[in-house]
Amino acid sequence: MKNIVISGTNSVSEEIAKSLANSLSAELCKPIYKVFPDGESYVRLPCNVNDSKVIVVQSLINPQDKSIIEAILLGDAIKEKAVDQILVTPYLAYSRQDKIFLEGEPISIRAILKMFSEYYNFLATIEIHKEDSLKFFNKNSINIRPYTYMAEKINFDNKNIAVLSPDIGAIERAKILSSYLNCEYDYFIKTRDRITGEVTMQPKQLDVKGKDIIIVDDIISTGGTILKATQILKNQGARNIYVIVSHALLLENAEEKLFSSGVNKIYATNTLPKKNKVDYIDVGPLIAKNLSAYLN
Ligand code: R5P
Repeated sequence: MKNIVISGTNSVSEEIAKSLANSLSAELCKPIYKVFPDGESYVRLPCNVNDSKVIVVQSLINPQDKSIIEAILLGDAIKEKAVDQILVTPYLAYSRQDKIFLEGEPISIRAILKMFSEYYNFLATIEIHKEDSLKFFNKNSINIRPYTYMAEKINFDNKNIAVLSPDIGAIERAKILSSYLNCEYDYFIKTRDRITGEVTMQPKQLDVKGKDIIIVDDIISTGGTILKATQILKNQGARNIYVIVSHALLLENAEEKLFSSGVNKIYATNTLPKKNKVDYIDVGPLIAKNLSAYLN
């Protein structure tokens, strides 16, 4: 049976789809896409998806709501024809609203994933904010953690290195990476005011003096978390600061702020639009590796 990769409607999705199709030796299909004068999206598939396993790659980048609608339109276009309808969302927007923080709020990621499960029977994503949220997608799914793969590509050869996660909730990421690099790991004690958004971080246990530190996180948004962590680490005598992150949004001048605060390198996957000074690692081959068991 044929595997067809359909590239989504933005350049980020196109790049990953091309790389994924290449890694899977699958056919690549680029939808015809336009926006009507009233702002509605239109998609049409110029390829025959009958009796095929079809993988739609759509990174839910800004404008997120449009990216989501287009993923649904593509899902509807393949629904009754393809044998398998697989959705790959390299960046899964709305995953940080995974519970009700303030009375009256929705669980946004639940709403999005329930909708996707109407159109797709398998979902793969790169490092969702909390893996548990995938239960809202009513079919099978995988969360692909890219940290070991990223470290392989970066090839750290430094012996005096340690890994830190910005909070205890993210400690698993630091554990995975430190076990691959065979080094120490720790976490910051971090609290965020849900109304003002202000973050405070307590010093961690690890002695960072003279060490090179890798901060690992799922996402950099405004950069506030990594900025605070870097300032604390620098005050405590850390040598170089590297950041490994799945999704580098880097909003509001965050890139400049982080590099001028002492961050040496930011490594991110290519799930979001690119910034000048970030080093990107293509997730196409990693997604292919994780999908191959499902496709065979
Ligand atoms: C929080 O739980 C996340 O893992 C990130 O640490 C956070 O979303 C980063 O946001 P910002 O870059 O705005 O501090």
